[in-house]
Amino acid sequence: MARSVTINGKPREVDVPDDMPLLWVLRNELHMVGTKFGCGKALCGACTVHIDGVAMRSCVTPVGSLEGKQVTTIEGLADEPVGKALQDAWLEHDVMQCGYCQAGQLMNASALLKRNPEPDERQVEAAMSGNICRCACYGRIKQAITVASAVAKKEQADV
Ligand code: FES
Ligand code: FES
Repeated sequence: MARSVTINGKPREVDVPDDMPLLWVLRNELHMVGTKFGCGKALCGACTVHIDGVAMRSCVTPVGSLEGKQVTTIEGLADEPVGKALQDAWLEHDVMQCGYCQAGQLMNASALLKRNPEPDERQVEAAMSGNICRCACYGRIKQAITVASAVAKKEQADV
């Protein structure tokens, strides 16, 4: 079925069944391959995107559920100050090893800082615990989130 899905602020036309997971729409229909396929079962977090600002797993989100909603992917993350700050902190702290999980990690971290601009270590660990990194970059991910939280705090103060 032909439909329009709003991705990173732009309407995109796709002709796919209602039950096709958003992940397939992104990667196979729109060739936006920044969002990764890990498990396909909502277990690893590699496919995390934002839907109306909330971190969701695109591998189990049917495209038919997205009518009127805003999808943000890793390709759109740097358009937001907190997303840009996270990407900068990721580079500064040399977080990535193989990099495969990192788009999902960044999307989840950005959703965390939007709802809690100054998380403590325990809150970061709890929020990020569902995003698996087979290279075990967890320590550097935590450090980078702490650095970027200063920008998130300032953003909130300026609103
Ligand atoms: S690919 Fe979606 S959670 Fe693993
Ligand atoms: S950096 Fe390799 S899986 Fe996370």
